[in-house]
Amino acid sequence: MKKIITSIAICGLALALPAQNKLIINADQGKETISKHIYGHFSEHLGRCIYGGYWVGEDSPIPNTRGIRNDVVKALKDIQIPNLRWPGGCFADEYHWMDGIGPRNQRPKMVNTHWGGVTEDNSFGTHEFLDLCEQLACEPYICGNVGSGTVEEMSKWVEYITFDGESPMANLRRSNGREEPWKVKFWGVGNENWGCGGNMTAAFYTDLYRRYATYCRNYGDNRLYKIAGGPNAADYNWTETMMKNAAGQMQGLSLHYYTVPRTWGNKGSATEFDEAEYFTTIEKALSMDELVTKHSVIMDRFDPQKRVGLIPDEWGAWYNVEPGTNPGFLYQQNTLRDAIVAGVTLNIFNAHCDRVKMSNIAQTVNVLQAVILTEEEKMLLTPTYWVYWLYKVHHDATLLPISLTCNKYEQDRRRMDAVSASASKDASGKIHVTLVNIDPNREQTVETYLRGATVKKVTGKILTSTKSSDHNTFDKPNTVSVKDFNDAKLSKESLSVTLPAKSIVLLEMEQ
Ligand code: AHR
Repeated sequence: MKKIITSIAICGLALALPAQNKLIINADQGKETISKHIYGHFSEHLGRCIYGGYWVGEDSPIPNTRGIRNDVVKALKDIQIPNLRWPGGCFADEYHWMDGIGPRNQRPKMVNTHWGGVTEDNSFGTHEFLDLCEQLACEPYICGNVGSGTVEEMSKWVEYITFDGESPMANLRRSNGREEPWKVKFWGVGNENWGCGGNMTAAFYTDLYRRYATYCRNYGDNRLYKIAGGPNAADYNWTETMMKNAAGQMQGLSLHYYTVPRTWGNKGSATEFDEAEYFTTIEKALSMDELVTKHSVIMDRFDPQKRVGLIPDEWGAWYNVEPGTNPGFLYQQNTLRDAIVAGVTLNIFNAHCDRVKMSNIAQTVNVLQAVILTEEEKMLLTPTYWVYWLYKVHHDATLLPISLTCNKYEQDRRRMDAVSASASKDASGKIHVTLVNIDPNREQTVETYLRGATVKKVTGKILTSTKSSDHNTFDKPNTVSVKDFNDAKLSKESLSVTLPAKSIVLLEMEQ
């Protein structure tokens, strides 16, 4: 009888007490650097990403510098955009770069068959893109045309942009007004070569990759970082084939994975979803961890030194387009749910920074999981933008190993960890922790212990809102935005952090 009473009492106690989340940060054990390039972006000639999103032309009433809108450049500089992938995407394998140089009014037009069948007038080409990257102070990442192009075409593009001496391509560049070569390190050799980039087999593309890689040259001190077209999500055979036969000729291998809550035919709405769909979205976003882990295991076999980077250069949430918009333009709104997707995904990439050297969310402006939306002269920053703003503290910081035990978020008998976390130390010794409370219903208190450091001061920022479907509109652009966070209590033993439901928190700790 006494035993029964005791166990009832213990159960009662367990029900009364909030369950514990415990985070241990090993502040003195950091080894790996979180490359700032993990925080990269992707912009394609698709819908209103390039045209309207960046490029408005020199004669536009929208304030611009040489045709590129100033508000978008400023917003992207504020998140310290490290690199920008261009011109696609599927568009890259239809794009012939020579159509996009020379006087704009003489450039040939083409049909953008992938994206809405619209006319592409080539007014935004190589010079405009590299001007954009200079204005952004970010590194260009150019994807060459393998699907419908030639080895010669891509090798001449490298020569046109990066060669300093006398050559047909360098002279052509000069005749188009650019004397000095640009520095462009990152080059992708085609896009989705298993799909829109040519529907190739892994074996066929591997051989083709080797040819392209051979003729894309290093000119002067411009050392190319060649990124091979990688697998579609869980296609492990693709990674195996590429790594076995071409690892020595690549610096990076791309990976594409999109979070689609329902099916490709009906992906679900960006703004109208129930909790079951919220759960599924986050669950699918979290499967990035399994993808990166399994591709890395294969890469480790052929490249134990981890010389080749795994580059998820297209990722993000993909929903049905906004009602009434062109289905080929992939324009979607962006809610707090998307901020959670970004927060957990970037925490995953940080954790794998020994192998993941770059990533590019799709796509920067007006397309898919955009950080910026524009409407003529208006611009808004999405909840996903604010995640990039919070997480810029991790750029080139040292990853701190963590151990996290946490509650489960349960929904209709499905469960997942309620909390995601990442910690790093920057060059000045400040420690930053990014925490995501995935649970849309319950706050989570995280007891945080720092090993190997004594914290003197903690400050914080938070991104949250009333509903997970909350989003910013041109009329109400600040519904979801960053605020100060004051719910981290420092004691002798630990730091007690209370994360509101569905929130993303950044803590800064000074030693
Ligand atoms: O980002 C939109 C498209 O998704 C890209 O063009 C393609 O690479 C992928 O399938």
